[in-house]
Amino acid sequence: MAKILDDVSRTFSEYLLIPRLTRTHHLPSNVSLSTPIARTKDEAEPLLKLNIPFVSASMQAVSGVETAVALARRGGLAFIYCSQPIEEQAAMIAKVKSRKAGFVESDSNVKPDTPLGEAVKLIKQTGHSTLAVTHDGSNRGKFLGILTDKDFWEYEDNLQIPVSTYMTSVENVVHGKVGISLHDANALLRKHKKECLPVLDSQGCLQSLVFKKDYVDHLNNPDELLDDRKRLCVGAGINTHDYKERVPALMDAGVDVLAFDSSDGYSEFQKDAALWIRKKYGSSVILGGGNIVSADAFRYLAEEAALDFVKIGIGGGSICITREQKGIGRGQASAVLDVVTARNKYYQETGTYVPLCSDGGLANDTQIIMALAMGADFVMMGRYFAMTNESPTPKVSMGGRLYKPYWGEGSNRARNWQRYYSEEADGMKFEEGVDAYVPVVGSISDVLNVTIAKLKSTMCNAGSSGLREFSTNAVLTRISEQSFRESGTSNVVSIDRDIQFNG
Ligand code: IMP
Repeated sequence: MAKILDDVSRTFSEYLLIPRLTRTHHLPSNVSLSTPIARTKDEAEPLLKLNIPFVSASMQAVSGVETAVALARRGGLAFIYCSQPIEEQAAMIAKVKSRKAGFVESDSNVKPDTPLGEAVKLIKQTGHSTLAVTHDGSNRGKFLGILTDKDFWEYEDNLQIPVSTYMTSVENVVHGKVGISLHDANALLRKHKKECLPVLDSQGCLQSLVFKKDYVDHLNNPDELLDDRKRLCVGAGINTHDYKERVPALMDAGVDVLAFDSSDGYSEFQKDAALWIRKKYGSSVILGGGNIVSADAFRYLAEEAALDFVKIGIGGGSICITREQKGIGRGQASAVLDVVTARNKYYQETGTYVPLCSDGGLANDTQIIMALAMGADFVMMGRYFAMTNESPTPKVSMGGRLYKPYWGEGSNRARNWQRYYSEEADGMKFEEGVDAYVPVVGSISDVLNVTIAKLKSTMCNAGSSGLREFSTNAVLTRISEQSFRESGTSNVVSIDRDIQFNG
């Protein structure tokens, strides 16, 4: 006979946090949001820690290059979607990695005889206003000069004339020698009032570029998530079908974290793929998986598949109709509580701490806070980031407001056959996601500022300065329907609050 669990499937909005003693040092400025994304044994330092507990979903409408750059600059991580050809996903990873803070490999280069029109096209394509001119148009060729969008007038100048006529030639370009420190490179930029400093080797060949803009960005974003070469970190979604080709391409492109993107990760497919990846790349690759909603599934993925982190959540996503279509899933709060209990038990037994990610269905900042209080180490969000300026979709005006399209990876539109692939089906016979619109709310940085401020404030109310302490000490209460209603405004007329992520 079927087993019926005692508990009811519960959601985050059914809980409230009870404040604990706030001591004088519990100030938002003292709160750290740093959190592990790789498994650790016996309290060793994890291979990578996020500086804020937020990652973006591996979805076409969410995680493109600009999302990844903006999120890593704030200390989080984007998972570039895998519902695209391998080469295209790898190219997106490489693009994010080229946007490192400090010394950048020049990815927009021309030859001296390149017609100005082609250079203009390249500037528009890449969004980079500075092009290096090298003898062969490569990023390591002999450096001949620099062309910026200030050197010509697109609609006045003759676009057939070679760039050598417009560029600033090498003898007039302030440049650094290979081996120069970032500090000295920035000092040269400042002294000569320049925006870009090419760094050349002893043969006069281009090695890298240093931009004033990166220096300013870094000062504005002290939590940037960087690798050991000071490049921004980026993650990638993978599937259990083409991983033997996809993973090597992503690793070559410099990806920092991989995660299986599957609506049900409690499977031998995921274990087999994880073991293949581990065998090929060892423990240096950070590999996550899921999604799961039960203690058994956690144990399986942590023990048998040796995953670095595990994602929790089936059917809660804002665009998700998995529960409706297939009858599988679990209330997100129940799932997180159950899996966190299993993870803590595993930690006590083995000394191995496996970070957990609460994925999907977070409808407002309170639910994010609740997921972290319940023991998730970080959260993955789709809708939250789809609503920002940086998501890869165009803005659309409807009824006087700006919206962006947002669709599920299991929708026909995403045509993500591998993620929702079923052995019996010879194609997609039903959808697990819908095609929708979400309002535009501003830049990633702006929305994160609000979420981070609320999270830090709540952590102080709960008497904690770090995320692990927050969840260990959290005291939660379940709420009745009446107290849920009481939580909103009551008996007053309030102006429309239905405008932001917190609608
Ligand atoms: P959101 O933050 O509520 O929008 O949920 C995003 C999460 O929904 C993703 O990280 C996936 O786990 C999940 N998801 C993405 N596409 C689909 C789909 O088409 N059906 C079901 N779940 C999906």
